[in-house]
Amino acid sequence: MNGAVIIREALPDDAEGLGRCHLACWREAYTGLVPQDRLDVVLAAIDERVERWRRILAGFPGRLLAEDAGDVVGFAAAGASRDDDLALDQELYALYVRQAYWGTGLGHLLITAAIGEAAASLWVFRDNARARRFYAAHGFVPDGSEKLEPYFERLEIRMVRSALP
Ligand SMILES: CC(C)(COP(=O)(O)OP(=O)(O)OC[C@H]1O[C@@H](n2cnc3c(N)ncnc32)[C@H](O)[C@@H]1OP(=O)(O)O)[C@@H](O)C(=O)NCCC(=O)NCCS
Repeated sequence: MNGAVIIREALPDDAEGLGRCHLACWREAYTGLVPQDRLDVVLAAIDERVERWRRILAGFPGRLLAEDAGDVVGFAAAGASRDDDLALDQELYALYVRQAYWGTGLGHLLITAAIGEAAASLWVFRDNARARRFYAAHGFVPDGSEKLEPYFERLEIRMVRSALP
């Protein structure tokens, strides 16, 4: 860690930093978890990832990032649930922390900034043991729903929680 990590709302100028952080997080977290050939293709497409973030930041304010001495080292996104079969209003769309920061409490800060103590749902790779343990510690339990994630072609499970007491 270089200095004090701050969490703030992402701005349009953060697209480049977020794109780079996103790919680094995928490499660090998903090597061995998703097909390597698919991961290699995704990791090589930095311009495409930055462009996606430009579009997201232009259209959907409220994305959060964690910054350490000017470097984006994590991010979180939450919003309206995309699942029609759920009565829950909120979904955690994404939560990523650079590997060097795992276990420092940064994930906790980001998830709290994104959804507070509210009821929410999320999708996570079934075999992503670290993330599942983290979410379980934040009150999430699998609700039995599964789907094939189309991007990396791995099974995802849904986890849900009620508002924390
Ligand atoms: C899942 C993820 C976001 C968690 O973030 P994190 O920063 O490691 O989370 P935290 O540090 O808050 O918590 C992790 C552990 O550190 C412990 N911890 C919390 N605060 C701490 C602190 N200040 N100092 C030391 N340890 C701390 C927690 O108790 C927790 O322990 P546990 O795993 O035994 O429950 C992170 O591991 C990650 O980005 N993984 C890769 C991407 C990913 O899989 N994202 C989910 C996609 S659905």
